[in-house]
Amino acid sequence: MPADDSFRALLDYMETELGFSTSHYNDSYLDRRVTARLRRTKCDDYSEYFDQLRTDPDEQAALLDSMSINVTGFFRNPEVWDGIRDVLRTLSARERQVSIWSAACADGREPYSLSMLVHADPQIDESAVEIRATDISEDALDVARDGVYEESRTTDLGGELEYLSNYEQYVDHDREEGVYRVRDRVKRPVTFERHDLISGASKSGFNLVTCRNLFIYIDTEYKRSMLETIAQSLEEDGYLVIGKSETIPPSLKSTFEATDNRHRIYQRV
Ligand SMILES: C[S@@+](CC[C@H](N)C(=O)[O-])C[C@H]1O[C@@H](n2cnc3c(N)ncnc32)[C@H](O)[C@@H]1O
Repeated sequence: MPADDSFRALLDYMETELGFSTSHYNDSYLDRRVTARLRRTKCDDYSEYFDQLRTDPDEQAALLDSMSINVTGFFRNPEVWDGIRDVLRTLSARERQVSIWSAACADGREPYSLSMLVHADPQIDESAVEIRATDISEDALDVARDGVYEESRTTDLGGELEYLSNYEQYVDHDREEGVYRVRDRVKRPVTFERHDLISGASKSGFNLVTCRNLFIYIDTEYKRSMLETIAQSLEEDGYLVIGKSETIPPSLKSTFEATDNRHRIYQRV
């Protein structure tokens, strides 16, 4: 972990001058991102990079861009989706209306995966399901609302979608244009909205919240308050799914009880 004064000065600058709340994120994450820019700009240390950053608006934009943590995918960690399917079946049998919140939904591939799963499973009543999807990034939400995803050398969209054997019913693969377009019936139950999980108000009435692969970047103090916001947004007995390498802090163990440890699925106590 960099104890370096120039690293701290750089973070202060990002916070006060560039408007990026570094204090919400953990140091190792921030260090990885800044170091990547430092290498890219061929600077030898934080201090040299800081000098460049202060005078170069393009580098300021590039640094902010590199801070956005937007890696995602359809059916990310496919084995977890077996657990999510079980939760959706339970909820579909129990509730008249099933409300899902995909928090930190990035470019929409997570909420669309939920919608596809709901459509594909005969034990889930798709007409009773609504999905609210939120993220802090307007750019990510713009892509999400469009529901059009480009193939690239690094993104194997077809491979991601293979979790469903009949995915072409839900996503149109336009081979000529090299894009995958989410079909209208998959988009219909999903609504998108900007929401900051750190400063935003809690919501209410959700039976399932997925908040995956954001906590790993967040400082423990904020992680707790984010989980409290989620707990308040959930119905009693509602479910929470977090990322595969994430954990619930011990102080919240009485709020969330693990129902499927392997898949990181919890129930609000
Ligand atoms: C790594 S992606 C995870 C996407 C998806 N949940 C998944 O697991 O594939 C993290 C997302 O969190 C969003 N994010 C970062 N800080 C946030 C905050 N304070 N409130 C809401 N979303 C945030 C980012 O914009 C990004 O889209």
